[in-house]
Amino acid sequence: MASAIAIYNLSFTFEDGLPLFRNLSLTIKKGEWLSVVGRNGSGKTTLMRLILGLETAQAGTIEINGRLGAVFQNPDDQFIGATVEDELAFGLENQELNPDLMPEKIKRVLNEVGMPGYDKSLPDQLSGGQKQRIAIGSALIINADILIFDEATSMLDPVGRKSILHLLSDLHRQNPNLTIINITHDADEIVSGKRILVLEDGKIIADRPTAALMTDRPFLREHHLAETFASKLAERLNENRPNQTQIPKNVISNDQLISWLLNSNK
Ligand SMILES: Nc1ncnc2c1ncn2[C@@H]1O[C@H](COP(=O)(O)OP(=O)(O)OP(=O)(O)O)[C@@H](O)[C@H]1O
Ligand SMILES: [Mg+2]
Repeated sequence: MASAIAIYNLSFTFEDGLPLFRNLSLTIKKGEWLSVVGRNGSGKTTLMRLILGLETAQAGTIEINGRLGAVFQNPDDQFIGATVEDELAFGLENQELNPDLMPEKIKRVLNEVGMPGYDKSLPDQLSGGQKQRIAIGSALIINADILIFDEATSMLDPVGRKSILHLLSDLHRQNPNLTIINITHDADEIVSGKRILVLEDGKIIADRPTAALMTDRPFLREHHLAETFASKLAERLNENRPNQTQIPKNVISNDQLISWLLNSNK
């Protein structure tokens, strides 16, 4: 499978800082959904900024095979248009698309991100979650096939968070070549990806399939990573019903827990 992003021997130090990345190498395949986790200051955002070309590494190479789209933590930082329509048109203007075709394309993307009819809305009239949807729309309208999210849902309420996650899952299902890199602290969001990268002090300390890493309780605890709600609930249920069949530890998502419990009661 072709790579979406291939990083070789990357070394990076901030002008006034200590070395952050030393000889970091990483390949992300086309169509992969990678979750990037790690404690505050571990280098997640800087890695994203290097991939986006917003920082320049002192050594190493970054190969990008596709068009990048990014969504940051604070939607206000990235909304530059006067209206939703202007915001979405920006990317198209850069591509020198025929202006006659723009309204149609904007309409299609607004439908895709679940915001039909919002073309004339002003940024102030949108909630944080709606702005994040427009930010995703800005990435989609330029046909980005590598989406990078940096804690893009951390400011949203649980409903807003869930609907963005659903949107991402739908997009990923519809387009098997869409690569998603999601930097997040949210355990339930992490399990949407198939692979997890754990950063610590600029080093990749784990790069494992989600199911393997999220069931490795000692590792999660040692590195201060959150378990999913379903894992924690399953553990408590097991403790409270020691004489019954124990819920297996590979039950990590809500859906898996629900179906296990329903089946065990049959
Ligand atoms: N502009 C900067 N100049 C100097 N040092 C910086 C700069 N930005 C970040 N750093 C340092 O680089 C390290 C990695 O920061 P980074 O923002 O990439 O971490 P992060 O993993 O995204 O953390 P968080 O979970 O808090 O968002 C930290 O030690 C931080 O202090
Ligand atoms: Mg960060």
